[in-house]
Amino acid sequence: MDDRLVGSNINTEDSEEPGLRPRSFNEYIGQDKVKDNLMVYIEAAKQRQESLDHVLLYGPPGLGKTTLAGIIASEMGVSLKVTSGPAIEKPGDLAAILTNLGQFDVLFIDEIHRLNRTVEEILYPAMEDYALDLIIGKGPSARSIRLDLSKFTLIGATTRAGLLTSPLRDRFGIINRLELYSNEELKNIVQRSSKILNICIDENAAMEIALRSRGTPRIANRLLKRIRDFAQIRASGRIDLEITKYALNALEVDEKGLDRVDRNLLLCIIKKFDGGPVGLDTMAAATGEEADTIEDVYEPYLIQLGFLQKTPRGRKVTLSAYRHLNIEPEQDEQISML
Ligand code: ADE
Repeated sequence: MDDRLVGSNINTEDSEEPGLRPRSFNEYIGQDKVKDNLMVYIEAAKQRQESLDHVLLYGPPGLGKTTLAGIIASEMGVSLKVTSGPAIEKPGDLAAILTNLGQFDVLFIDEIHRLNRTVEEILYPAMEDYALDLIIGKGPSARSIRLDLSKFTLIGATTRAGLLTSPLRDRFGIINRLELYSNEELKNIVQRSSKILNICIDENAAMEIALRSRGTPRIANRLLKRIRDFAQIRASGRIDLEITKYALNALEVDEKGLDRVDRNLLLCIIKKFDGGPVGLDTMAAATGEEADTIEDVYEPYLIQLGFLQKTPRGRKVTLSAYRHLNIEPEQDEQISML
């Protein structure tokens, strides 16, 4: 398990305080384009009395894919069933879930790229024709029967759309990429969460948390809760800028939102590989982090900050990262960065 405070582990989406999750589009802050379009598709499906087309949501972890699935089901007025790619081990597991869905229900599969191939093949006719093809018997007497399913909506979530096989990706009618949140949006989310949790927080403190949350609401909410602890024990209980900075310093989250693991990644490339380029697998071996985790969790933000560059020959640390870490690049590294 990933216990970094600024980490945004793929498997912990549901561990977030349930009360903080927005339950309707009105409460949901950010992702305006995705939200506006989804509202149209939902309204149209409801008017036609049809199920909503299948939806693929992709983007870095912690941006609210599960939350959106919950809102879609609630706006459609149907039940939501939540599962994940690795949890469905056998075709029979998925068949059991599918046959239990009611009319227009939403099935949310997190980490859908981790479904095994035999399970994935059950999904194709289910998505396309709302049918299950079952094989009865063995050997020469085996025959296939088709079982009708209720019309349902599959919402698949993944960190990168490219991880899906193309037959699966092609069966989604609605494909949305979730983006990292702006600082203003994150500030609003921190203020909303504070209200729900009965926390007094100054506006500049909420902005400071936003600035250090790497574009990710889940991280903003986690930092808020830890800072609340510091405010309660080391100060008056109110979260102001001073206690926020004190707490973030204690949590080793720097001004840009980087924590020890991020800094280690950058330092590893600088110290062991002269600033890069270095391949992803080499980086993983040298830091003890998993390659997938580096790619899905750490890199998007480091790349967005302009601290890391992906080149055809591997990852390279940029001059701004050297500056941020207060390290003077060697002469030949400076030349290679030009
Ligand atoms: N809490 C977590 N994500 C949120 C969002 N997008 N809007 C409002 N509150 C949130």
